[in-house]
Parts: sequence; C-alpha cells; structure tokens
Amino acid sequence: MLSTAFLVVAFSLVPISHASILTATPFWRYQSTCRSIANAIFNSSQLFYPNSTQYDADIEHAGVSSSQVSACSVEPGSTADVSIILRILGSTRTPFAVKGGGHAFNPGFSSTTGVQISMTRFSNIELNNATCTFDAGSGVTWDQAFAALDSSGLNIVGGRKPTVGVAGLTLGGGYGFTSNQYGLTIDNMAGYELVLPNGTITNGGGNNFGIVTKFTYKTVPQGQVWGGTLNYSVDQLDLVKEAVLKFQQKNDTKAALNVPVNYTPAGAISAALVFYNAPTPAPGIFDDFLAIPTNQSDIKTRSFVDMFNSLSFINPNTVRGRVNGVSVMQYSPSVFDAIVNQTLFWGGKIGALDPNFTVGLTLEPFLGDVFSHGPASAYPPDRSHALFPTGVSFEYSNASLDDTVSNGLRSFSDAVTAAAVADGQNVSHAAGYPNYALSDTPLEEIYGANLPRLHGIKKAVDPENVMGLAGGFKI
Ligand SMILES: *[C@@H]1O[C@H](CO)[C@@H](O)[C@H](O)[C@H]1NC(C)=O
Ligand SMILES: *[C@@H]1O[C@H](CO)[C@@H](O)[C@H](O)[C@H]1NC(C)=O
Ligand SMILES: *[C@@H]1O[C@H](CO)[C@@H](O)[C@H](O)[C@H]1NC(C)=O
Ligand SMILES: *[C@@H]1O[C@H](CO)[C@@H](O)[C@H](O)[C@H]1NC(C)=O
Ligand SMILES: *[C@@H]1O[C@H](CO)[C@@H](O)[C@H](O)[C@H]1NC(C)=O
Ligand SMILES: *[C@@H]1O[C@H](CO)[C@@H](O)[C@H](O)[C@H]1NC(C)=O
Ligand SMILES: *[C@@H]1O[C@H](CO)[C@@H](O)[C@H](O)[C@H]1NC(C)=O
Ligand SMILES: *[C@@H]1O[C@H](CO)[C@@H](O)[C@H](O)[C@H]1NC(C)=O
Ligand SMILES: *[C@@H]1O[C@H](CO)[C@@H](O)[C@H](O)[C@H]1NC(C)=O
Ligand SMILES: *[C@@H]1O[C@H](CO)[C@@H](O)[C@H](O)[C@H]1NC(C)=O
Ligand SMILES: *[C@@H]1O[C@H](CO)[C@@H](O)[C@H](O)[C@H]1NC(C)=O
Repeated sequence: MLSTAFLVVAFSLVPISHASILTATPFWRYQSTCRSIANAIFNSSQLFYPNSTQYDADIEHAGVSSSQVSACSVEPGSTADVSIILRILGSTRTPFAVKGGGHAFNPGFSSTTGVQISMTRFSNIELNNATCTFDAGSGVTWDQAFAALDSSGLNIVGGRKPTVGVAGLTLGGGYGFTSNQYGLTIDNMAGYELVLPNGTITNGGGNNFGIVTKFTYKTVPQGQVWGGTLNYSVDQLDLVKEAVLKFQQKNDTKAALNVPVNYTPAGAISAALVFYNAPTPAPGIFDDFLAIPTNQSDIKTRSFVDMFNSLSFINPNTVRGRVNGVSVMQYSPSVFDAIVNQTLFWGGKIGALDPNFTVGLTLEPFLGDVFSHGPASAYPPDRSHALFPTGVSFEYSNASLDDTVSNGLRSFSDAVTAAAVADGQNVSHAAGYPNYALSDTPLEEIYGANLPRLHGIKKAVDPENVMGLAGGFKI
C-alpha cells in the first residue's frame, strides 16, 4: 500500500516556491477562481470570503505560524463538489490547501494564500457492526471519533492528543497507544474514499492520490484501560531516565509509554504518561515510574475515552510553533542525556530572546516489531525494525524568530542523532516521521528507497501535477 504518501501529499505540502507564495502573492489574484467555485458548487457546500466567521474558522490552525490569509475558503459538503473544486483549481492552476484538523505546524502544508479547502462538513461518523469497521469523514477529530466509539466495546488505532484531526494523522502513518499491539493507523485501514486529481471519485485500493473524503478503519476490541499521567519535577530526571531504560527491556504489547521532557519559562519539567490496555497492568511493568516521587498523578482504571480526554492539549492559537522529529532505535543513556542537554540548551538560548519560549518533546519508545503489523507503505520505508519518532516542538511568540527556531530544531535533531550514532545506532539516514518533519526535510529522509516508486505512481495518477498546487511533502 504505497498509497499513503499520496494521501499525505493531498492533505499537506509545500509548493516548491512556497516562500515566494507566502510573501509576494496578492490574494486578490485568485478572486476569479473563488467566484468560479462559488458559482459551480451545490448547496451542501459554501464558499466564504475574509472577515466572515466561517472563513476565520476555516483558515485557523493550531499555531498562528501555520495559518495563512487565503483568498477565500470553501467547505465542500459532498464528494461531487470536491471533484468540481479540484477541477477548477487544476484548470486555473490556483494554489490551494486541504485542512482536516489544522494541526500541521509547517506553514503552507494545510494553509495557503490561494483557496483554503476545509473538510469540516465531512463530519460523518459511523460504526458498522456487521463489517467491524468505523467510518470517519476527513473533517473528524480524534476526540470525536473516540467519543463515538465509547462503550461500543470497539476502538480504532491512532490519536494521542485531543483535537488533532483523523486525516493528517492517518495520512502520515499514525502512532497510537495500541500501536505495539496492532501497528500504525495505516496498518488498520479498511479503505479510503477519495477524489482523484482529475475529479474522479473512487474508493480505496490501488491508486490513491487526491483528496480523501472518508476513512474506513478496521476496529479492534476495547475494554477498560489502566493509566494516566505522573508529573515529575526536573530533579527527578535521573530516576526517569533509569525507568525509561528499564521499560525498554520489557516486551509487553499492551503497554505504552510517553515521557515528555519540557522546558517552560517556569523551568524544566518531566512527566510519564503510562498506558496499559487492560483494567490492571502486568505486574511490575510501570513500577519504576510509580516509585518516583510525585504529588500529581491521575493513574486509574478507566475508559479509553476518559484516559484520552485527560490528556489536555492546550495550544492557544496565538502561539507560533515548529516541529521536527529525531528518529532513534533506542533511548540509550547517551541519547537520553543528549535530549535533556539539547532541551536545556535551546530553552536557555531561545528563551533569552522570547520569554514565551517552550520546548515540548516526548520520548515514545515502541517495541522492536511495531512496524511488523502492516504491509509495505510509503512511510516507514523499512519495516524491519522500530524507529522511535520523537517529536520535538518549539513554541514561541516572536515572529522574527522563525528561522532561529527552525535552525535550532535542526541542530537539536543533529545532536541527538549524533549521540545515537556514537552509540552504534544506524540512524544517520533513518526515516523521519512525516508528521514531525520540518518542511524542508528531503523526501529521501522520509520515504527512503520507496521514493523512485512513489515518483512513478505520481506520474501515472497526477500527470498534470494538480496536487503540486497544494503544500506538503511533494513527491
Ligand atoms: C439544496 O438543493 C436541493 C435541490 O437542488 C433542494 O432539494 C434542497 O432543499 C436544498 N437544500 C438547501 C439547504 O437549500
Ligand atoms: C478585514 O477587516 C479589517 C477591519 O475590520 C480590515 O482591516 C481588513 O483589511 C479586512 N481584511 C480583508 C481581507 O478584507
Ligand atoms: C453496534 O454494537 C454496539 C455494541 O456492540 C451497540 O451498542 C450498537 O447499537 C450497535 N450498532 C448497530 C448499528 O447495530
Ligand atoms: C509536592 O507539592 C509540594 C507543594 O504543593 C511541593 O513543595 C513538593 O515539591 C511537591 N513534591 C513533589 C515530589 O513534586
Ligand atoms: C501535569 O501537569 C500539567 C501541566 O504541566 C497539568 O495540566 C496536568 O493536569 C498535570 N497532571 C496531573 C496528573 O496532575
Ligand atoms: C550540550 O549541547 C550544547 C549545544 O549543542 C553543546 O555545545 C554541549 O557540548 C552539550 N553538552 C553536553 C554535556 O553534551
Ligand atoms: C524483546 O523483543 C525483542 C525483539 O523485538 C528481542 O530482541 C528481545 O530479546 C526481547 N526482550 C525480552 C526481555 O524478551
Ligand atoms: C507572550 O505571550 C503573551 C500571551 O500570549 C503575550 O501577551 C505577550 O505579548 C508575549 N510576549 C512576547 C514578548 O511576545
Ligand atoms: C523579537 O525578536 C527580535 C529579534 O530577536 C527583537 O529585536 C525584538 O525586540 C523581539 N520582539 C519582542 C516583542 O520581544
Ligand atoms: C543502515 O540504515 C540504512 C537506512 O537508513 C540502511 O539502508 C542500511 O542497510 C543500514 N545498515 C545496516 C548495517 O543495517
Ligand atoms: C482519472 O485518473 C484515474 C487514475 O489515473 C483514472 O483511472 C481515471 O480513468 C481518470 N478519469 C478520467 C475521467 O480521466
């Protein structure tokens, strides 16, 4: 299933000349395209101009740094209208972007100065008991999807933060709390409904490249889970490190661990998010984390939804942000130390320039065989061993620091990669998780040896390069 890369392309990506589009293009240039779309779409869809509530909602992203002023926004209400819109955009060569949940932090990935397509009206959610599948429109967010599955005894794989959209996470590959058990989100798909660049509406299968309107997930059984968050002060980091090292020796498919290491203006902090896919954890599995002194803990047996909703994701949309990942095979002592050092180093350095600066990163160890649950896919290009994607986000408020932040993130990743390589980990060209990659990450560093094949499919499915008008990682 090499489809994924193309789906990614549809939902996110950066035009080659994105810098010039960002700064130089007067938005009125696309007004005739907006008018053509408004005249062509049917009444389940609607087009909006700036200074309307709907337009503001359509162009809004989780970070103000990835919101752009678009000529107009359109909320298609049917696949037929997606097809009409795509054909108009293609024939007028108008830049566009497709927004699901709006959590892309790269400007130009799901934002545009051209026509912003918001999938918000594709909000349908449906559990099909007969086929054990779950349909979610591409405007659905993970909290909505999980809420709909609550008390059904079933669940789908993916989503670790409320308000993130199903579309972007799924199209990038998708890690979830149950990935050690069932694999990535893309390993658990029953189908996609999509509109091809030439306007043809189709269902899943072979040549997936276009705008996805609906995802069909295979469901997995879901009962009560055990878990929650333990907050630690920074002086517990040595104990956290020991606990992480020991956890990686355990091979329990039902266990998942996320360890945030954050720098905030109030000081560095750490935490452990522990998850076990049963009402009671296997004996001893999280004892090292439970033994670290904390007076903030909400660990308990609870529903999956209750656990998920407890993971507050406060991200004021006034904040600027950039994200980059660093792929490692193990959180070894020196890798852990490098991550902490880089967090404190950049926290201090950029923190001195912007009092609102924070570093947010999460250690996310998986089992060695986490990629063994699915067929070949665009990402990860090599499924023979695990890579821990390790997203690092820098959030700030001073727009003049955009480049400083991007360069800092690159330097952060390089330093951690160097520590892993010095440790004997073969990660100097390890694939990066597309949902955590800075916009100028070379495609080889994401799709590896799959790239020539992806280029071939792209040529066949999108000979006019319609999807090249949208941003994101362009094959
Ligand atoms: C949309 O148009 C159809 C016919 O084309 C009509 O039956 C329907 O009532 C209209 N819906 C709205 C909300 O105007
Ligand atoms: C939106 O309205 C503000 C004033 O309320 C105005 O300054 C701005 O130019 C308007 N933007 C567009 C794109 O019309
Ligand atoms: C599907 O099954 C769940 C319980 O397993 C039940 O609550 C729900 O009503 C069923 N839905 C349909 C459409 O049969
Ligand atoms: C627990 O909270 C108190 C104050 O509320 C604080 O002084 C102490 O450091 C905290 N202990 C831990 C282990 O975080
Ligand atoms: C941990 O700290 C975060 C803020 O840093 C807070 O939102 C959360 O509620 C805390 N968790 C627990 C279990 O106290
Ligand atoms: C911490 O990181 C800084 C910046 O990359 C580097 O200069 C320094 O040598 C590092 N310190 C350690 C102990 O690794
Ligand atoms: C865990 O599984 C890996 C393979 O994924 C294996 O190499 C390792 O020896 C196992 N460790 C334990 C403690 O069973
Ligand atoms: C920091 O953030 C606050 C709250 O968003 C904002 O009011 C303030 O202007 C920011 N400070 C700087 C220096 O940008
Ligand atoms: C933003 O950063 C620039 C360059 O570092 C600095 O000159 C400017 O004063 C900063 N603005 C604020 C509001 O801190
Ligand atoms: C190291 O990783 C690269 C991919 O990044 C792979 O092509 C190569 O075969 C690996 N080498 C070894 C010795 O495993
Ligand atoms: C659109 O492209 C697909 C994939 O290349 C192709 O199968 C289909 O026939 C095309 N439709 C039209 C109307 O050209």
